[in-house]
Amino acid sequence: MAKKLFWLFMLVGVEFAIAGALLAAAYAAGLLPVWLAALLLAALLVVLVIVAKRLSDRLLFPLVDMAKDLDELEKNAPYPELLPFIETLRRQQVQKDENLRQRQEFSANVSHELKTPLTSISGYAEMIETGIAKEEDVKEFAGKIHAEAGRLIDLIRDIIKISELDEAEPEGGEEMQPLDILSIAQDTAGMLAFNAERAEVSISVSGCYAQVKSRRELLEELIYNLCDNAIRYNRPGGWVRVTVAKAAAGVLLTVADNGIGIPAEHQERIFERFYRADKSRSKASGGTGLGLAIVKHIVLKHGAELKLQSAEGQGTEISVLFPPAA
Ligand SMILES: Nc1ncnc2c1ncn2[C@@H]1O[C@H](COP(=O)(O)OP(=O)(O)OP(=O)(O)O)[C@@H](O)[C@H]1O
Ligand SMILES: [Mg+2]
Repeated sequence: MAKKLFWLFMLVGVEFAIAGALLAAAYAAGLLPVWLAALLLAALLVVLVIVAKRLSDRLLFPLVDMAKDLDELEKNAPYPELLPFIETLRRQQVQKDENLRQRQEFSANVSHELKTPLTSISGYAEMIETGIAKEEDVKEFAGKIHAEAGRLIDLIRDIIKISELDEAEPEGGEEMQPLDILSIAQDTAGMLAFNAERAEVSISVSGCYAQVKSRRELLEELIYNLCDNAIRYNRPGGWVRVTVAKAAAGVLLTVADNGIGIPAEHQERIFERFYRADKSRSKASGGTGLGLAIVKHIVLKHGAELKLQSAEGQGTEISVLFPPAA
């Protein structure tokens, strides 16, 4: 269509140029009086304006019609040349709809997750306030309120973390730079030593010095969440092994455990926000279901690759392949 219009424009332009030249020649040869030449030129200009308006309308109106119904863009495409543009628009629209759906779902989940501990805090506090709770129960109820408040704090911390990761990189924020991931893994495992001991699980870090382009808090958060899970979803006497290795495609971080494992039917979904495979154990140990969603976000931020291998009752191995630092 665009080609046809191009040739039409060319044809009309050439015709008008010839008509103008003939008029000028006739005037120069003295065949036309000046007033008649001027009149004919003016008439030619008027015709030119009308034709230009018609042609531009022909070009524009189908576009205006197309814009009226964005749902049927492909069907209403006036020119095949517009199809790649329509395809891009469509893809962006689908992406936006999906983002909106995820945000709405996230807000609904957040409200639900916040409501549960708050309802319980409010219930215990009311029993103490109204005197329904006996003197000897007060201490226990205060403990429950304390635990639920702790859950709320963890939840809010994770929600803030996810929202920060959702945002584009803040202007003037700390730059990504090559960091020694082995020493960060050792420090992070150290932070969890007490939890590991309490769960009777051993934790070790091994491997070679390797650099990953990142920010310290991002790597700490990622390794912390993976190790925290490996300890939490384990059994007394179990182990957690963190290894750092250099691979041809980059740096490979692996967190492996011989804990309870993840049943195959849950493996696809555990990186989703608020998804828990073992609901009761996660909740009992104060889990929010956001840890692996944060991990996935951080992995995407690094352009890294995430792999999960797990067998129920045998253990889990999650590995992250970071691109080379340089
Ligand atoms: N190493 C593991 N072994 C067994 N199950 C695991 C392991 N890691 C994760 N899971 C399962 O995946 C679910 C999601 O993990 P995720 O870390 O996102 O949430 P969480 O541990 O429940 O809460 P938190 O946000 O506090 O980390 C867990 O609830 C658990 O059922
Ligand atoms: Mg977790």
